[in-house]
Amino acid sequence: MAQDALTGWDDEATAEAYAAFTRSFPMYTATSRDLASRARLTTSRTIVDLCGGTGATAQAILTLAPHDAQVITLDNAPAMQRIGRRTVNDPRLTWTTARAEELAEHTPAGGVDAVLCNSAIWKTDVSAVFAAVRRALRPGGRFVFNVGGGFAGVEHPDARSLPARPSLGSLIEQITARDYRLPSPAAGAGPQLPLPAITRQLAGAGLTLVEAEVTAQHTTMAERRAWLSIPVFARPDTGLSYRQQMEILEKAYAQTRPDDVTVTSWLVVVAQRGGAPE
Ligand SMILES: C[S@@+](CC[C@H](N)C(=O)[O-])C[C@H]1O[C@@H](n2cnc3c(N)ncnc32)[C@H](O)[C@@H]1O
Repeated sequence: MAQDALTGWDDEATAEAYAAFTRSFPMYTATSRDLASRARLTTSRTIVDLCGGTGATAQAILTLAPHDAQVITLDNAPAMQRIGRRTVNDPRLTWTTARAEELAEHTPAGGVDAVLCNSAIWKTDVSAVFAAVRRALRPGGRFVFNVGGGFAGVEHPDARSLPARPSLGSLIEQITARDYRLPSPAAGAGPQLPLPAITRQLAGAGLTLVEAEVTAQHTTMAERRAWLSIPVFARPDTGLSYRQQMEILEKAYAQTRPDDVTVTSWLVVVAQRGGAPE
């Protein structure tokens, strides 16, 4: 499952667009706050924000962390961190440019109270990251992360209760096929990171599952459109330029209403080092 995780993220245009998106829309802030609320941060001294990007998750952590805590935000994309360093200023926060798989090399062994990873774990080599988190955590320390619904193979009931309207993604596929004669992306071989696989890999690393919950995030079409404009999320497999992809996006968006709501599902996982939950 190891991937070239740097692909697309270490890019000024993506980093600027991502930071602007997180300032204007709640998606990453809301999921970060959810993880922070589950990590028992008020009694934590050393906290890691894994795959922290431009710092949205670090900000959620800093809101709950004690005044004398140390927060390490680690990401392997310098362009993302350059923006974060400019915009998130807190003496408790340290920026570390490194791969998540190398976490243990950047933290005191067994000295970390909590590790959080918002909207990124499936981009990493999961078994290497779980092993590194286990080495970094103190006994009883918490590891909290989320997995996008498609990657986890979960769907919140709210997603099924909405009026049946084509999603922005499916409209984009239709227009791409019509205007450029390009096929839709091939259906994958099933979810990449379902809960049984997560539980097995956590156990293999010496971590115990404490809680798993499927949550729903309600998103307007306007927010989806802004998210799909972030260059890293454009479809590289099409060979189309970013400008062409944005033209397709605008045609698709014109067929929706800005306030129409879509539901994004997440699998939220809380694990800890050690057996019985503290
Ligand atoms: C969707 S962003 C999430 C950033 C942040 N957690 C937030 O919620 O705003 C995903 C981030 O994961 C980082 N990333 C992906 N794979 C990584 C890896 N193997 N090691 C470190 N960072 C990684 C990317 O560089 C990017 O900044």
